[in-house]
Amino acid sequence: MGTDISALQKVRASYQPKLPKALRSGNIKIDLGAPTQPPTDQAEIKALFPSTYGQSAATVVEGSGNLSSEALKVGVVLSGGQAPGGHNVIAGLFDALKAANPNNQLFGFLKGPGGVVKRNYKEITAELIDKYRNTGGFDMIMSGRDKIEKPEQLEACKTNFQEMGLDGLVIIGGDDSNTNAAMLAEYLKANGSKTVVVGVPKTIDGDMKNEQIEASFGFDTACKTYSELIGNICRDATSAVKYWHFIRLMGRAASHVTLECALQTHTNVALISEEIQEKGTTLEAIIDSIVDVVVRRAINGKNYGVVLVPEGLPEFISDIKVMIDELSSLLGRDEQYIHSLEDHSERLQHICSQLSDASSKVYASLPTAAQEVLLHRDSHGNVPLSQVETERLLIDLIADKIRQRNAHSDTKVKFSPLSHFFGYEGRCAAPSNFDADYCYSLGYTAAQIVRAGLTGYTVNVQNLTKDSDQWVAGGTPVTMMLNMEVRKGKPTPVIKKALVDLNGKPFKTFVENRDKWAIGDEYVFPGPIQYFGPSEVCDSPTITLKLEKS
Ligand code: FBP
Repeated sequence: MGTDISALQKVRASYQPKLPKALRSGNIKIDLGAPTQPPTDQAEIKALFPSTYGQSAATVVEGSGNLSSEALKVGVVLSGGQAPGGHNVIAGLFDALKAANPNNQLFGFLKGPGGVVKRNYKEITAELIDKYRNTGGFDMIMSGRDKIEKPEQLEACKTNFQEMGLDGLVIIGGDDSNTNAAMLAEYLKANGSKTVVVGVPKTIDGDMKNEQIEASFGFDTACKTYSELIGNICRDATSAVKYWHFIRLMGRAASHVTLECALQTHTNVALISEEIQEKGTTLEAIIDSIVDVVVRRAINGKNYGVVLVPEGLPEFISDIKVMIDELSSLLGRDEQYIHSLEDHSERLQHICSQLSDASSKVYASLPTAAQEVLLHRDSHGNVPLSQVETERLLIDLIADKIRQRNAHSDTKVKFSPLSHFFGYEGRCAAPSNFDADYCYSLGYTAAQIVRAGLTGYTVNVQNLTKDSDQWVAGGTPVTMMLNMEVRKGKPTPVIKKALVDLNGKPFKTFVENRDKWAIGDEYVFPGPIQYFGPSEVCDSPTITLKLEKS
């Protein structure tokens, strides 16, 4: 972090995040509910997690009894993509540990899970934490996308924890990292280690949510940041009256970010991948539907507009999805060989010879850059979608269609497109009040779960649309959220990703309005995130969460 800080950061540093009532009382205990089980694949999951399967859900309540006041040593690690509020999770964890016993110590593992395996860490002191309170970014201890999964990595963790005398490890990550946390918890418990492992639900994608976890942190701030920018672009569009803006938004497979931004700004078009998959819409049909809006607006004298494109779109268009699935299985088998081939044409030839006829045609029709990106998977088996320029592909196809149309029509349609990608711009924004409070509460809760000696849990804070006083904190056993999915061609236990629910209120609200948003100029300009001022401006959670809970 630079040595100079902005006036806002200076004032913001003294913001004291709000906590649920139970956590504010000096007297805290954990209530355990009935044993839990996952909704599907119980036998397979029980076999993979014999020591941690079936644990009870935990709730933090006022009272005394079952939390350790012994001096504890706890580690924390940030895993995966940045999300606003990560530093506040660590601040909440730190403050809760010090409140429980001033001799408690917190160690930050550096650069993600790889730092845990390599035992690369630093102690988090009061002086250090004070520099990062209420700031965005993960730069205090940095993040990484390594996965702790191989037997030698699990064993290295066990040895490291034993030598450090670590009582607990808090893994701040998304669905894949929380699954990994559960695997590490299982390994440690089964092998007699005292170290408990607790996860915290992080991701701007908003896809780690279920009945227990109402939202992943960072989604609120990232969507508000993108919506500010989208609103600015809508205003530019209505001012310049000459451009069509195509904006791709981060979010991986799920379209939650796109849906939330559409609800916040009322752009003319927003594609929702989950709907496209449900209806089996082809790429051509998507293009036709956007061309239809462009032409209808042009007839009304409006040669401008704004289109939102979720980055996960390619995986949801039926023909492209089949091809990506085939390619994933092929990579599961032949990855090393494919990457050993020296040039692109050799790789293309080999891949096309291995895919089905239909998929090899789809693969061959993509631009070279997209073909190459699709040959990579991250350590969790995900396609690096943030690098696929879907918005440009759409623009080219739409421009072609409009050219063809203009050639046969007396009324010419003007189409001047511009492309944007909003992703990294929002991931390190200073957390909104909602994320600042939520993250601090998550960290504070994680400390209590560790103090209770519970392992293989993801912390949760519920009742999020109510005043923070009424928030309820606790922990969900990770095995309860798992299901078996094929990853890199193998059945693997993973936390089920929450995609946009087509029967849910957020999507239904969008559907009720999208026709009028397409043709009218009903844009909303949310403006920048506000930290000081009226509560309805500063503290409101996302529209998605409000609709889901209404
Ligand atoms: P997580 O799933 O780790 O939270 O990452 C979120 C995300 O921002 C996605 O929206 C995006 O596709 C991806 O990270 C980009 O990955 P990278 O940071 O490796 O470029």
